[in-house]
Amino acid sequence: MQVLTLDDFDLKGKTIFLRVDMNCPIDPETLEISGTRRIEEAIETLDSLKEAKVVIGSHQGRVGNNEYTGMDKHARVLSSLMNREIKYVEDTIGESAQNAIKSLEDGQILLLDNLRLCAEENYEFTPENAAKTVMVSRLSKLFDLCVLDSFPSAHRSHPSIVGFPQVLPACAGRIVEREVKNLDEIMTVAKAPHVIVLGGSKISDRLEAIKLLIQNGRADHVLLTGLLGNVFMRAQARIKSPMGIKHEEEVVAKAHSLIGEYPDIFATPVDIAIDKDGERIEMDVREIGKGEKIFDLGPKTVEYYSKLIAGAGTVFISGPAGLFEKENFNYGTRELLTSVANSMATTIVSGGHLTTALKKQGLSDKINHISTAGGALVLYLTGEKLPMIQALEDAAIKYRSK
Ligand code: 3PG
Repeated sequence: MQVLTLDDFDLKGKTIFLRVDMNCPIDPETLEISGTRRIEEAIETLDSLKEAKVVIGSHQGRVGNNEYTGMDKHARVLSSLMNREIKYVEDTIGESAQNAIKSLEDGQILLLDNLRLCAEENYEFTPENAAKTVMVSRLSKLFDLCVLDSFPSAHRSHPSIVGFPQVLPACAGRIVEREVKNLDEIMTVAKAPHVIVLGGSKISDRLEAIKLLIQNGRADHVLLTGLLGNVFMRAQARIKSPMGIKHEEEVVAKAHSLIGEYPDIFATPVDIAIDKDGERIEMDVREIGKGEKIFDLGPKTVEYYSKLIAGAGTVFISGPAGLFEKENFNYGTRELLTSVANSMATTIVSGGHLTTALKKQGLSDKINHISTAGGALVLYLTGEKLPMIQALEDAAIKYRSK
C-alpha cells in the first residue's frame, strides 16, 4: 500500500481531523437513522486515536433530499455504541465549531455538524483549489493531522477529502486501509464472467460507472434493479409513462444509448411489485398502469437473475432491489442477497443499505468482501484512481520526501 496509515504517526496529544462517512439510511417517516452500520465502522479508527483530540467530520444526505439532516442523531448513536461522551457542535466551520475544537482535551471526541451545510462541501474541486476553500483555510490551522477514513466518499473531490491533505500530513484510517488491501487482493483473483447487480437511486453516477465497468472488462452481465432498473425499462419502452425522477429524459436517453452500444450485457426485470392500498401486488412489467410506482422485483425476475449469479466467476452487488425497508417490498433484495451468498463466485456486497440488509439476514459470513461504500466502490472496480486515494498517495510522497 502506497499510503501512510495511523501506525506511521505518533498520535498522542495531537488534534486530528477524522473524515468519516456516517451517511446513513434515514427512515422517511421517523427521520431517524435506520441502519447504523457506517457509524459502527468508525469505532475501529476512533479506538486507535484514544490519546488524541479527535474532530470527526461527515456528510449526511444531499442538499434537498430527505436524508439531508443534522448529525445530532449520529452523535447520540455513536455515544451509545461506544458508551462514552461524544461532544457535538451544531456548526461546521464557524466560531462555535472552532471554539469547540480549541477546547478539546486529550482523549475527547467532537462531532461536527453535516459538512454539506457548508456550501463548499457540495462541489468538486481540484486538490489545489480545495486547499484554498474557507473550510480548509479556517480549520486546518487547528489540526495536526488529517485521517481519511470515508471510503464510501472516496470518489468525491470535496474540500474535506482532497483539501486538508494538501496542507496537513494525511493518512488512511483503518477502514480505508482495509478496503484498499482487501479489494486489491480480490481484484487479482477475480474471474469472468463478471456479473454486476446494480440498483439504488444515484442514477447519473451509476450510468457513468456502468460504461467504465464494461469498457474495462469488469462487467459481462449487468442485472438492473431498483430505480436504475426502471430507467432502463423506460429506455426499452417497456415502461411507457414518465416516472417523475430527476433529469428523467436525460438519464433515460443515456440508458438507451448504453443498451444500443452493448445490447448483450443488460438484464432488466420481467415482473415487479407495486403497492395497492398498502398491499403488495405482483405483475408483468407490461401491465404497469400509468402513475403506478414499482417497489420491488417479482419472483420471475429473481429466478432469472439468480441463474446468472449462479454461473458467475465474480459477483458484485450494489444498491437495494426495491423499498427493502418495508416488509412487503424487501423480497427482491433479500432473495438476491441469498443467491449471491450461495454462489461459488468471488462475491462483493456494496453500499450502506445492502450491508444493513445482509447483516439482518445473517449472511455476512458467506461473502468475500463487504463494503459500506456504494458509488465509490463501483468506481474503484472500474480501475479508476479515486480522488481520496490519490490525495493519500500524494500526501505519502510529500511526507516521505521530507
Ligand atoms: C454514499 O453513500 O455513496 C456516500 O456517502 C457518498 O454520498 P454522495 O453520493 O451523496 O456523495
